[in-house]
Amino acid sequence: MRPLVSIGEAWRRAGRRIDRLDARLLLERVCACTHAELIAHGERELTPEQWAQFEALLLRRATGEPLAYLLGSADFYGLEFAVSPAVLIPRPDTEVLVDQARARAQKLPAARILDLGTGSGIVAILLARLCPSAALTAVDLSAAALEVAQANATRHGVHIRFLEGNWYAPLGDERFDLIVANPPYIAAGDPHLQHNGLPFEPPLALSDRVVGGDGLACLRTLVAGAGDHLLPGGWLLIEHGYDQAVKARDLMDAAGFSTIGSWRDAAAIERVSGGSLP
Ligand SMILES: C[S@@+](CC[C@H](N)C(=O)[O-])C[C@H]1O[C@@H](n2cnc3c(N)ncnc32)[C@H](O)[C@@H]1O
Repeated sequence: MRPLVSIGEAWRRAGRRIDRLDARLLLERVCACTHAELIAHGERELTPEQWAQFEALLLRRATGEPLAYLLGSADFYGLEFAVSPAVLIPRPDTEVLVDQARARAQKLPAARILDLGTGSGIVAILLARLCPSAALTAVDLSAAALEVAQANATRHGVHIRFLEGNWYAPLGDERFDLIVANPPYIAAGDPHLQHNGLPFEPPLALSDRVVGGDGLACLRTLVAGAGDHLLPGGWLLIEHGYDQAVKARDLMDAAGFSTIGSWRDAAAIERVSGGSLP
């Protein structure tokens, strides 16, 4: 039988193979303890089951699987959300989409908001919390993603109407004050798709999967369909890639939008573009 290993020793050994903070968070998860307990009781031995579980997680992290999938959760905008490999891991870039949407929704007495490609539900859930009088609808093509989103909505105590389907298809002729989306926008074949844990995230969430394209196929669909689903004066706000703002604005201009603009994320990159319909 293997000798038992103390928590402190397990952390030291793991820190040689993966980032020390990641190792600590995985240990805390396996031992169901807090950071303070981990420090205070470093001499406590892991049970054989905990050691086996920890080693398995360590191996997965060492081979590049994102920490959020191993922990089953990720933070966004100060809240914790459940995530699974069925959904994109929330990125801080998306905060600018929430902020721009919130600024517009809060001017309306009871905004009707549509979140297209909701994934884990972060955007719709944040807007429901920040704008309590708003009515939220969220769509995704992935039934598995919608299960995660519904669980997150329940966890954060908000009501959202979740619909499964292809962008605007499940909505009939419904119209909204505000349409927000963070669609897949990485061009198929972009080498970034092979790095930083992206191979573990759902391809449906990352790329429009159009071979030889520019990654903007979903954005084009969303802009083209918005006119049939926005109320007069309604806004469309879309997150996009670091180099796609000009194209996004051009597409909106060609589709008849006015007051078109782009907004920068914390890294000063134009990350969200939008416009309103007269
Ligand atoms: C970039 S992820 C965004 C997830 C989430 N809104 C966020 O910001 O973290 C894009 C989402 O769009 C969904 N999606 C992709 N194609 C779709 C389609 N044709 N119709 C509806 N949703 C789609 C994916 O399943 C994925 O959840």
